[in-house]
Amino acid sequence: MTVQGNSFEAVFGRPAALVADAPGRVNLIGEHTDYNGGYVLPTAIPQKTRVEVAPREDGLIRIATMSVRGGTQLVYRAGEESRRGLWLDYVQGVTAVLRGRGVAVPGFDARITSTVPLGSGLSSSASLLVALARALRAMLGLSIDDVEIARIAHAAEHDFVGAPVGTMDQMAASLADENTALLIDTRTLAFERIPLPAEAELLIVNSGVTHQHASGGYKTRRAECERAAAALGVPQLRDADEAAEQRIASLPAPLDRRARHVVTENARVLAAVAALRAGDLGRLGELFDASHRSMRDDFEVSVPAVDDLVESARAQPDVFGARLTGGGFGGSIVALVKRGCAARVGQAVVEAYAHAPNRRATVLVGGPVS
Ligand code: GLA
Repeated sequence: MTVQGNSFEAVFGRPAALVADAPGRVNLIGEHTDYNGGYVLPTAIPQKTRVEVAPREDGLIRIATMSVRGGTQLVYRAGEESRRGLWLDYVQGVTAVLRGRGVAVPGFDARITSTVPLGSGLSSSASLLVALARALRAMLGLSIDDVEIARIAHAAEHDFVGAPVGTMDQMAASLADENTALLIDTRTLAFERIPLPAEAELLIVNSGVTHQHASGGYKTRRAECERAAAALGVPQLRDADEAAEQRIASLPAPLDRRARHVVTENARVLAAVAALRAGDLGRLGELFDASHRSMRDDFEVSVPAVDDLVESARAQPDVFGARLTGGGFGGSIVALVKRGCAARVGQAVVEAYAHAPNRRATVLVGGPVS
């Protein structure tokens, strides 16, 4: 969202030296598996965060953004990063992590603009982290590959900002593209790109219910997974396979349900990859549906508004499957739709949703103009 009169030059009085960007992501399947060492299958969305930068001689880091409260500017000094509980922490996280890796980060001016909606479950923060890390890589001539960029972005969010997230979002922002699904083994960060089927398109609809990662449910779920793994005697839930079904069922509630979600979801990612390779959209859709039920009933990260969106998408013709995407507790749904039908399905879903009071959904991908 560029506000007129707020170009880099208007803000900082000189042109930007270079610009980098990174996309938001939608996860197709494999939810809450990444911090359990499992598989995920995200893809990039068209919306991006863009960072323009120019170096400074005096060690000051000045950041202007148009995405927060109509535009703000914040300043800190390279080497004096400290957590303030603000969006600036993401920027400070990247420079602090780079310095921790021995990079002499100089001062710079940066202007951030983004079309990734905040709090929609589409990783606006990872796209900011990766775009900034890319801009600094180019500005400083660093030889860092894209997996390393993702690791730096993850360390910035996890260690500096203090959000206990897994590695999926940063990997997706750094390595995914819009035409392929990115299969990631989050234990090793090995990845593979799998072409998306030409006969289908994605529809992404934001529920307007916002989520909060750094606190609350996400943290609790992560801790529950760790307790479940310990009770099963495995390092991570990735190491418990479906054969452990009986032992999972005998865990105390809710650890039994949490473990069952992770173990079955992990298997669903591999099944989805097989379905993609076979061009079996019906099967892929069934896996989307099963993933949603598992997140709703076993992992308990959905909310009624999101369930309604999923159900109304499923009630439309030409929809193969639909599910909550991202961390949950609000956010967006992703539906797999016959090519050419997403705009119609999106409109129907948004209209049905608006029948309940105070509900307004937005089509983010798959609408008439996307
Ligand atoms: C958020 C986190 C990711 C992942 C998802 C759930 O997006 O940032 O690391 O855990 O939730 O799959």
